[in-house]
Amino acid sequence: MHHDMTIHDKVDAMQSGSALPRDAERPAFPIPANVYAETVLSVRHYTDRLFAFRITRPQAFRFRSGEFAMIGLPNAEKPVFRAYSIASPSWDEEIEFFSIKVQDGPLTKYLQKIVPGDTVLMRQKSTGTLILDALTPGRRLFMISTGTGFAPFASLVRDPETFEKFEQVIVTHTCRDHAELQYGVELIENLKHDPLIGELVNDRVTLYSTTTREVTPRMGRITRLIENGRFYTDLDIAPLNPETDRVMICGSMDMIKDVKELVEARDFVEGSVSNPGQFVVERAFVG
Ligand SMILES: Cc1cc2nc3c(=O)[nH]c(=O)nc-3n(C[C@H](O)[C@H](O)[C@H](O)COP(=O)(O)OP(=O)(O)OC[C@H]3O[C@@H](n4cnc5c(N)ncnc54)[C@H](O)[C@@H]3O)c2cc1C
Ligand SMILES: NC(=O)c1ccc[n+]([C@@H]2O[C@H](COP(=O)([O-])OP(=O)(O)OC[C@H]3O[C@@H](n4cnc5c(N)ncnc54)[C@H](OP(=O)(O)O)[C@@H]3O)[C@@H](O)[C@H]2O)c1
Repeated sequence: MHHDMTIHDKVDAMQSGSALPRDAERPAFPIPANVYAETVLSVRHYTDRLFAFRITRPQAFRFRSGEFAMIGLPNAEKPVFRAYSIASPSWDEEIEFFSIKVQDGPLTKYLQKIVPGDTVLMRQKSTGTLILDALTPGRRLFMISTGTGFAPFASLVRDPETFEKFEQVIVTHTCRDHAELQYGVELIENLKHDPLIGELVNDRVTLYSTTTREVTPRMGRITRLIENGRFYTDLDIAPLNPETDRVMICGSMDMIKDVKELVEARDFVEGSVSNPGQFVVERAFVG
């Protein structure tokens, strides 16, 4: 179950006292230096562990699609800041995030309760390794993700530059359950019908979603599906080849380690902006 949070939900949330302290009772914490204070525009809950939200974009804020920023809440003298991949593309007028809800997490135990109108803090600098400029030219771009590791690819797959640089874009997303895949499924579907980029993307983007716990028609870890060849036969594509393909990886540390080993065994070389290569990696969370 998921739904968009409307102004009515906002009123309900305020009355039930579930969100952040409201105006009258909110202590006036100063906004720290070098931090933007932005307004929440919309919130959408996908599961009891996942939600997405959009905030206003500061006029002066520039980032490259695929980067992450540090975000927090104005709920303490020294707010907790956490790394978040920006899920919207660099051209977007708003900033989107795709977030986990950790029940006792120092940030997300509060962040999961935000409603439109609330303030989210964002440090002014963005950074990251999942950058198109860190890859040498190629024909196919594979984006391999688990869980919220899909977020930077939600940004890159909506950036026309990705399609200027690559002929084919194949995004994989693996989660335990079917409902956790919904954000990605809707995003790719909407992209194909987008008036701005839909024509450019057309049939050049493919989403390959799999589950590992809930029984669905397409199951398995991506590592296993690549190794046993099912990934290639399902999509009717040629196997990974460092001559033609580039790979971006984002997910848990275990997943990154295994996919890194898999591509290195196929002679892919890791890249960076200063020394572009055939694949790049970023952790979707620590732990
Ligand atoms: C480069 C980078 C980019 C990140 N981008 C995102 C993002 O786009 N969306 C996002 O939700 N998180 C992202 N994270 C994780 C994020 O920084 C926080 O860890 C997360 O928001 C939880 O914060 P917390 O303070 O509530 O709990 P924390 O104390 O940070 O985490 C508590 C525990 O929860 C688990 N956990 C934390 N984050 C996740 C997650 N995303 N998925 C599954 N388990 C998790 C881990 O086991 C962790 O030890 C990113 C982390 C890094 C390093
Ligand atoms: N997802 C939940 O419903 C849930 C609920 C409560 C607590 N948690 C905890 O929250 C943390 C993060 O959970 P998460 O589900 O977001 O992330 P996760 O455990 O990293 O799993 C996300 C997806 O990645 C797959 N995966 C894990 N390791 C892999 C590897 N080495 N190679 C390829 N694929 C791999 C998982 O498959 P497998 O299923 O095969 O591992 C799963 O489909 C964990 O500590 C977990 O115990 C999760």
